[in-house]
Amino acid sequence: MSYPQPVSSTLLEIQQHVPLAPFTTLGIGGPARYFARIPDEPTLLEALRFARERHLPTFTLGGGSNLLIPDTGFDGLVLHLAIQGPTILTAATPADPTLTYDVPAGTDWDAFVLQVAQANLSGIECLAGIPGLVGGTPVQNVGAYGQEVSQTIASVRALDLTTNAFTTLTAQDCHFAYRQSIFNSTHRDRYIVTRVTFRFDPRATPPLGYADLQKHFAHHQPTPLEIYHAVRAIRQAKGMLLVPGDPDCRSAGSFFKNPIVPAATLTHLAATLALDSAAIPHWPAGQGSIKLPAAWLLDQAGFHKGFTLGNAGISSKHTLALINRGHATSADITRLRDTIQSEVLRRFQIPLEQEPVQPA
Ligand code: EPU
Repeated sequence: MSYPQPVSSTLLEIQQHVPLAPFTTLGIGGPARYFARIPDEPTLLEALRFARERHLPTFTLGGGSNLLIPDTGFDGLVLHLAIQGPTILTAATPADPTLTYDVPAGTDWDAFVLQVAQANLSGIECLAGIPGLVGGTPVQNVGAYGQEVSQTIASVRALDLTTNAFTTLTAQDCHFAYRQSIFNSTHRDRYIVTRVTFRFDPRATPPLGYADLQKHFAHHQPTPLEIYHAVRAIRQAKGMLLVPGDPDCRSAGSFFKNPIVPAATLTHLAATLALDSAAIPHWPAGQGSIKLPAAWLLDQAGFHKGFTLGNAGISSKHTLALINRGHATSADITRLRDTIQSEVLRRFQIPLEQEPVQPA
């Protein structure tokens, strides 16, 4: 495919009609009307000026690992955030033993996790092997195996699109919750994250609350680096690690959030399934609520590993990952999503919420 000449400015290069599928782990999505790679903050401002002058909507694309792009693509300017630069380390002092890492948003997440684990610091090692870039992690408060980025994020630097100025938000300002922050809820589309500062306490030790991890380390307290490698192995076994050639990782990770429901739902579910409540996996979620594993609900509703609907399907390694079987369109994935959501709702009266972002 040949592209028309880029519309250029001093800092900025705008391309047109750029297919977006290759920028996503699902490998799905139509073209961007305009597309700009953003390596630094001045280019971001320049790109936004370009969009404003033409009244174009913008969409921020990071690592593309949690994204379902429509087949029609995006009729505006896609900002491919790839902000690079040095990671700024602040050392511990006698008064404050913690260390901070101020990281550009375009840094590969897993590479950063490895860097921190190699420094023997605990805090994000359970988040090893998660595809994507650092800038995406505060948006959905990435979490796995007992850690969430909200526990180590000190602050987030972002461009505020309402003022066109850069601002620093503290972790408190971000209002983190399960898979949620102001960036994907109350202030959706208001901020573009350009740097994230993480704070680590050298006295912290890795959590071992998850059975998957306990199995690995029955006899000793592992180091952050040992956890890093164990989590990658666990994720690989579940098809949740990007391994070239593995058809099960043509996905956007977990496609549904684990639903948080009133505790009474457990009794109802047990009656519907003629099971004992104790046989239903669940975790306390605070304020009289419980969290149910969406993967388990899918299984109970008849959507098993390897399920296929047209060109879309369910991973052969984990029920929660919807995959592109090779030539799937966005419509194939949404048809499978709708089929699953309506069946789970019909059987259990539990609505499942989609996890990947879907630009309009
Ligand atoms: N389960 C099944 N079938 C399966 C897999 C899991 O029934 O095929 C049930 C089991 O009862 C299991 C439970 O689901 O005990 C939990 O499964 P798992 O530990 O694999 O975690 P998950 O709840 O499916 C969440 C995150 C993952 C994260 C893991 C580990 C969400 C939406 N997903 O998945 O995050 O890696 O926990 O902590 O919260 C992601 O968001 O993309 C992601 C991969």
